[in-house]
Amino acid sequence: MASVSEDTVREIKFRNSIEDVVAPYVALRKAGSNLVGLCPFHSEKTPSFTVFPKDGSFYCFGCGAGGDVIAFVRRAENLDYPSALAYLAKRAGIPLVQDDRDRESSLRRQRILSMNREAARFFHQSLLDPQKGAPGMAYLRDRRGLPLSLIRHFGLGFAPDDFGLLTDHLSRLGYRDYEMADAFLSGVSKKNGRHYDYFRNRVIFPIISPSGEVLAFGGRVMDDALPKYLNTSDTPVFKKSRTLFALNYAKKHCAEQIILCEGYMDVIALHGAGFQNAVATLGTAITSEHARLMKRYTKSVVISYDSDEAGQRAADKAFRQLGEVGLEARVLRMNGAKDPDEYIRAFGSDRFASLLNTASSEFDFRFGNILGKYDIGATEGRLKALDETVALLSTVDSETRREVYIGIAAEKLSLSPESMRRDVERRIRRGERARARENTEKLIAASQGIGDRVNTDFIKNPPAAAAEEKLLGILLLHPEYIGESEKAGKKPAPEEFFSEFGRKIYTRMLDFGGGYFDISALGETLSVEEVDRITSLKRSREMLADNRIELFWELFDRMREAMRKDSLTTEEIIRRKREGRK
Ligand code: CTP
Ligand code: MN
Repeated sequence: MASVSEDTVREIKFRNSIEDVVAPYVALRKAGSNLVGLCPFHSEKTPSFTVFPKDGSFYCFGCGAGGDVIAFVRRAENLDYPSALAYLAKRAGIPLVQDDRDRESSLRRQRILSMNREAARFFHQSLLDPQKGAPGMAYLRDRRGLPLSLIRHFGLGFAPDDFGLLTDHLSRLGYRDYEMADAFLSGVSKKNGRHYDYFRNRVIFPIISPSGEVLAFGGRVMDDALPKYLNTSDTPVFKKSRTLFALNYAKKHCAEQIILCEGYMDVIALHGAGFQNAVATLGTAITSEHARLMKRYTKSVVISYDSDEAGQRAADKAFRQLGEVGLEARVLRMNGAKDPDEYIRAFGSDRFASLLNTASSEFDFRFGNILGKYDIGATEGRLKALDETVALLSTVDSETRREVYIGIAAEKLSLSPESMRRDVERRIRRGERARARENTEKLIAASQGIGDRVNTDFIKNPPAAAAEEKLLGILLLHPEYIGESEKAGKKPAPEEFFSEFGRKIYTRMLDFGGGYFDISALGETLSVEEVDRITSLKRSREMLADNRIELFWELFDRMREAMRKDSLTTEEIIRRKREGRK
């Protein structure tokens, strides 16, 4: 995005105030001249996420995430720097001129999307063709019982049993072999290098984005052959880990609640039965990106995974991911059917609706699992169940909820609520102590640069690195010190800095002439973790009283002094790293 001028970046930031951009993600309240709330990037109970309207930045004192409004969007929306900039430009209605590389990659995306649309049309028409589509229709309509209206609604299709039909069709429309390979519509034969249709003799489920673009396809065999499903691999327009099937339809129906399923057929059956708020992850387990995506559209999620063991294990993970982003979650327990599709077919939509009403809370789900695992009639089993239940209860944040659950669990395990409460409270305190200890250990490790992935030079000479970080913090607060040092004949040269990280920051500051300086100037060349670190360097200095230029000079001398002393040998570095891992 070389052509986005620094002026434009400044304009974009000016018109996107950090408070406004953060607001949909975090409930903020005033704290002095700043705003605080629960961090959207890690799970916490007391707010350490802080917004500083004065300089348009944020910083989480809990997890160390920080930066300007662009850094926030990069993290919250999982975007790279240029895309975050484009997102904010669009939000503020600022037109962006693209440079050649951007234009090329956006052109490539457009080509894939339009090719996918053609492919979807081809598959759909093949299915509706009385001859070509007969096997697909026999499967979807007759075997799976999907009415034609539903087949049309989801644009389902059929890939005939032929190696070249789609490839030929797309060639005729002017698409090149390599483009089809990019889109994962054609594979390349290892034997003769020829391109062939990737989807053959399968029914096709197009995967459509909330804005209506055809992103990818899933193809199912019509018998017991393996693999049961073939899916488009990740392409420039599709990433499985952040895509939800049928969100394009569900988005209009899910403000209150989303039904989260495992598979295509579950979702289609549910929509057919009137539950248009159903979506599915695509065979992959739920990711934090899925959870964040749902959070944009809904308040609560009903996990409707398969009733087999794998599905129940997946529900366990889903609870965790959904909890992390602050989504309320419950889980369905289906008896007499393997998945929602079968359930609807066997018992109808009314029964499914009442099943939805009886979905279990996370506590019920986990407590049920504990009870299922042990024989609580026997002493040993009862003790083990008690122990796990106490551990479970100690993770429940809300005191009122905890109280209610303690009542339920105590009764079930024939124990007085009082003694159970005491155990739970003891466990909570123990957890807090362990966390505090862990934090101290982390702090010690950090002070020695162990496991530092941002400043990889740190471990080579911790005293030099520590001095450097302090002086960089002061400089970030007072860029004008560069000019003043020059006047005093004490301006450091970039090569004199200890770490590559330090040299990078300082060099960019020099480019700015030492006056105004802004992290977004570095944005493109920095990872989100590096932006975090820079923000933290600045914030931690800000809280200290002494940030005079003299201290800056002194720290610089201290860094040079430490650098003169022997830097660590390689063996020593390896030994420390190993210790850090233990
Ligand atoms: N899946 C996949 N690849 C496979 C198996 C499954 O991508 N080899 C994904 C599909 O998205 C599928 C989901 O995981 O829809 C759930 O798998 P499964 O429960 O096996 O299939 P169902 O959705 O129940 O499909 P069907 O009812 O047609 O058997
Ligand atoms: Mn199924």
